[in-house]
Amino acid sequence: MSTRLRWAVLGPGSIARRFATHLPHSELGELAGVGSRDAGRARAFAEEFDLGADAVIGDYDEVLASDAIDAVYVSTVHTGHAQLAIAALRAGKHVLCEKPLAPNSGTVMAITDAARRSGKVLLEGFMYRFHPQTLRVLEIVASGELGEITHVDASFSFDTGRREGRLFGTDVAGGGILDVGCYPLSLARLVAGAAAGTLAVEPSSLTGSGTLGPTGVDEWATAELVFPSGTTASLRTGVRLADPQSATITGTRGVLRLEDPWALTDRQIIRVDVVGEEGREIEIEPAHAYALEADALARAVAAGQSEVPELTLAFSHAQAKSLDAWRAQLGLRYPFEADTAAIPTVSGDPLRVRDGAAMPYGEIPGVGKKVSRLVMGCDNQGDLAHASALFDAFFEEGGTTFDSAYIYGGGHHEVLLGQWVANRGVREDVVVIMKGAHTPHCDPESITRQLGESLERQQTDYADLYMMHRDNLDIPVGEFVDVLDEHVRAGRIRAFGGSNWTPERVDEANAYAAANGKQGFSLLSNHFGLAEALDVPWAGCVHATDPASKAWLEERRIPLFPWSSQARGFFTGRARKDDLSDAELVRCYYSDENFERLDRAGSLAAELGVPTTAVALAYVLAQPFPTFPLFGPRSIEEMRSSMTGLSISLTPEQTAWLDLRSDRPA
Ligand SMILES: NC(=O)c1ccc[n+]([C@@H]2O[C@H](COP(=O)([O-])OP(=O)(O)OC[C@H]3O[C@@H](n4cnc5c(N)ncnc54)[C@H](OP(=O)(O)O)[C@@H]3O)[C@@H](O)[C@H]2O)c1
Repeated sequence: MSTRLRWAVLGPGSIARRFATHLPHSELGELAGVGSRDAGRARAFAEEFDLGADAVIGDYDEVLASDAIDAVYVSTVHTGHAQLAIAALRAGKHVLCEKPLAPNSGTVMAITDAARRSGKVLLEGFMYRFHPQTLRVLEIVASGELGEITHVDASFSFDTGRREGRLFGTDVAGGGILDVGCYPLSLARLVAGAAAGTLAVEPSSLTGSGTLGPTGVDEWATAELVFPSGTTASLRTGVRLADPQSATITGTRGVLRLEDPWALTDRQIIRVDVVGEEGREIEIEPAHAYALEADALARAVAAGQSEVPELTLAFSHAQAKSLDAWRAQLGLRYPFEADTAAIPTVSGDPLRVRDGAAMPYGEIPGVGKKVSRLVMGCDNQGDLAHASALFDAFFEEGGTTFDSAYIYGGGHHEVLLGQWVANRGVREDVVVIMKGAHTPHCDPESITRQLGESLERQQTDYADLYMMHRDNLDIPVGEFVDVLDEHVRAGRIRAFGGSNWTPERVDEANAYAAANGKQGFSLLSNHFGLAEALDVPWAGCVHATDPASKAWLEERRIPLFPWSSQARGFFTGRARKDDLSDAELVRCYYSDENFERLDRAGSLAAELGVPTTAVALAYVLAQPFPTFPLFGPRSIEEMRSSMTGLSISLTPEQTAWLDLRSDRPA
């Protein structure tokens, strides 16, 4: 690669023209190509910007295949960013992608994951962030000159005149919030960050309102933010009203005003009024913001950094979450995001297991499929875009098994899982756990009624594995076995078991089944992990971390699907003897023995060069009975971090030492 980046534009529309106009002022880059879906459009752009005979001109694939291009500027409509950005990263190009990276945070999560794995740099195109005016503003905020920052007021709204084009189409994620509302939102987060000595801070609450126009997009919207420090922000955005484009930052000692925070077309004035001092105006010379952002990316590349420090991938992901929250306040969801939408993979490629995926598998009699040893918990995916991106990533890593329940999210999570399975056509490849009959509906009739509803929500006619979510000691165990056996015979479930069932009741159920020629319990899902539980987090839960339960599991060898196998954060660094702030953690796990286990896991982790949580997971996987730990990552990043435990195999000696059953060092 040359020391200067050779850039190509993908999507030569109006903003690409501004980029191409600024780029000649770049220190570290030059325009060397253009790609468009339309060959004529690419050629016209190349002519307009005098690209020489060596320029790469063609469709997107041709540009991405060229060795004469180092970096691409993705400047298509919002809905076109994700696929192109991922294709470019995979083709070995650095990517400057116009804001927003994608219409929703689930899709952004997949793009940032692709960037982290590619070793290439991805930057979201907030060019104003790199302009000297913004740098100066953030410096002033950080200096404390304005006192404590109390409020940010910012607006980006303009009048398009006519209701036509990409800003008014729901199919291309039109509307003001995503197109320009993202600017005031990002500034408020950056200002809160500068005040706190960090890059950005996320609002603890966001309320908003607005108007959806006749085409279904937001034409006017406001948002009120509160940050953890107490700083507030008022944001306005729109595409049918020319509100002044401005920003005011108020502190306990002074006020800073900007009359042109975003477009930055000319010489700028920052007005600062501090109490008791004469007001001052800081002049900022005109600058080429698009060239500056291209150079920020180039500098990160030259320094061998994986991302641009001024605008990280985590910044973009968090930004997308706040944009989701803002749109949700208006009830604005695009048709391609609906719970019933046929959402494709973010890369656009068919879903398949990655070569070299390290997932181990086990078997459960009756299921007839590979059961991944790690089981994805389906209880915290807010929407289908997020669920799809996460489940795709899990599947690509060899994950086959998904844990759902009738009560999770009032049924919404079952709908999302079912839609993803249907969209991908993987019903015969995945193992779906359904759970039902949670207290107070823990009775045979509720099992049948809820199972029927779960199957319908998940668009399927069978559960690979079914578990009663709780037990009800008022009901003779045989009544449960009878109804579950009936469902097996009818083909609605393949195998069943109990979650939060005691060893005694499981033995009783299996004795009844054996005596009556019925199928018995073939799995159990209780709390289990390296830390011994002193108490359980929720009423009605059962753990299997005590020596008697462990001995029973070893003897029966019944497959265990442990929940909270990481002891609710005990091994993540959150637990410290002198920190009693997490009452649940203290109640359930704080004991001298568990802190000794934590120490041992920590020292073994350091030796192996993995996080302590990986050792805690490896401990669960290394048991002498089959284990299939459930995990509930909230992002692909968390998923990958948890999965590092799969690469470690512990010896029986190490396992015994971790569990304080031997003094021998590992
Ligand atoms: N940073 C800023 O200040 C700023 C300002 C304005 C816009 N933007 C961002 O830049 C991006 C492009 O905005 P723009 O105003 O430049 O857009 P545009 O001119 O309307 O279109 C840009 C390109 O997108 C592709 N495209 C257009 N319509 C499409 C459709 N229906 N489906 C798929 N692709 C389509 C075309 O690429 P092909 O030629 O390859 O077909 C077109 O050349 C947006 O994400 C926007 O947020 C940023």
